[in-house]
Amino acid sequence: MAAAAAASMGVVREVLGPDVVEEVDQPIIDYIANVLADEDFDFGAPDGHGIFEALGELLIDSGCVSSQDHCLQVCSKLCEKFGKHGLVKPKQAVRSLVTPLRMNAGMDDDVAPKKQPEVFEGPLLSSRDKAKIERKKRKDERQREAQYQMHVAEMEALRAGMPPVFVIHNNDGGPAVRDIHMENFSVTVGGRDLIQEATITLAFGRHYGLVGRNGSGKTSFLRAMAMHAIDGIPKNCHILHVEQEVVGDDTTALQCVLNADVERVQLMQEEARLVQQQKDLEIEAEFGQGSGKSKGDLDKDSISKRLEEIYKRLEFIDADAAEARAASILAGLSFTPEMQRKRTKEFSGGWRMRIALARALFIEPDLLLLDEPTNHLDLHAVLWLETYLLKWPKTFIVVSHAREFLNTVVTDILHLYGRKLHAYKGDYDTFERTREEHLKNQQKAFETNEKARSHMQGTLHCIMFGV
Ligand SMILES: Nc1ncnc2c1ncn2[C@@H]1O[C@H](COP(=O)(O)OP(=O)(O)O)[C@@H](O)[C@H]1O
Ligand SMILES: [Mg+2]
Repeated sequence: MAAAAAASMGVVREVLGPDVVEEVDQPIIDYIANVLADEDFDFGAPDGHGIFEALGELLIDSGCVSSQDHCLQVCSKLCEKFGKHGLVKPKQAVRSLVTPLRMNAGMDDDVAPKKQPEVFEGPLLSSRDKAKIERKKRKDERQREAQYQMHVAEMEALRAGMPPVFVIHNNDGGPAVRDIHMENFSVTVGGRDLIQEATITLAFGRHYGLVGRNGSGKTSFLRAMAMHAIDGIPKNCHILHVEQEVVGDDTTALQCVLNADVERVQLMQEEARLVQQQKDLEIEAEFGQGSGKSKGDLDKDSISKRLEEIYKRLEFIDADAAEARAASILAGLSFTPEMQRKRTKEFSGGWRMRIALARALFIEPDLLLLDEPTNHLDLHAVLWLETYLLKWPKTFIVVSHAREFLNTVVTDILHLYGRKLHAYKGDYDTFERTREEHLKNQQKAFETNEKARSHMQGTLHCIMFGV
């Protein structure tokens, strides 16, 4: 068994490649090698489907392979290599017979010919079969793409019907929403379940790092939350998913951020209108003209009264500080004062993405969802964002592959794995350690089971054969 395990490990390393073996948790690689080394393992047909059935999900979820198709290729390769090393004697599929079977093969020889382990040398499938498989693969791909496009269109329609997220000035001071419980929810894209019956609670004020291999559904999960498409998210919860760059137009970068405070903008516009009307009335009075009423049918006193209310409210929402706050966020994200006065249409996509991020930070929604924010940032801006997020008073979820960034800004990790969300307390390093421990324990349990099984087999053998 030890020799078989070593040979098995060699094949697994060779097929997966040194980079993958390096990257994936060692216990996972050990587990895969052990399963395949088991003499009872059923490799099934030579196309590797037996391996795919037993280990496909693990190979995909652990990041050993990048897609289902890649997984099938790897399983087929594993099956082929195991065959070459004489570690497997798969049942020959009728179609895969390359040389005609001679019933008297070896009959004339003095010694029986050795069994040929090289069972996979020739082509396994006829060209007709291959073409058929190719056609089916292309059809499946087209179908998946169409389903995905349908999903995107549905999401866009949902997004169009949603009120835009902007700054909310609470009169009572407290946040509208605290903890968010999402129970037994699934996220499906193009008919494929990316998350299945997961349950998660986002505790108010905690900072979550969302991790999982590429394509596992992190972005889709954030989108679903932003669309309020998951039960358990309160209707009044303001969720902002920074996914798209701001539209390029004549608005300056600074104004674009400030415009997110809709109430402030509206109050200031009303103030400017009323001040103008006040001036017009004064001029009319000086020349003894007019009815003493403005275009809006307000007299001098009503205008003064409304202006007073506006000033009070502007003071309450700290409107004067808004511009300095917006400017400091933009500066943190490496916008010079000149750049802040530039029109958004003059910026590249990457910089418009930074403006979108600045807007989100300025708005400070109940739940902020950041999808790989450091991708668009220079080192200086990343460090600034770290410091800013550390002091973030509300809940956020951030997807990132940057370990140090996660270690600095998060208090919890959400791991999207095996279509479930697993929550871990602590930063990324803590998560990795906890998980390693967990996998080692699983491996130990596997080995104990193995020992128990072979012991049992030994006992059975003794009972059956009386030895
Ligand atoms: N452009 C696309 N075309 C077809 N399917 C896609 C596309 N983008 C994403 N998907 C599907 O959605 C799944 C999840 O994608 P996504 O949520 O972007 O994952 P992540 O953010 O974890 O990388 C993918 O595995 C894929 O099946
Ligand atoms: Mg993504």
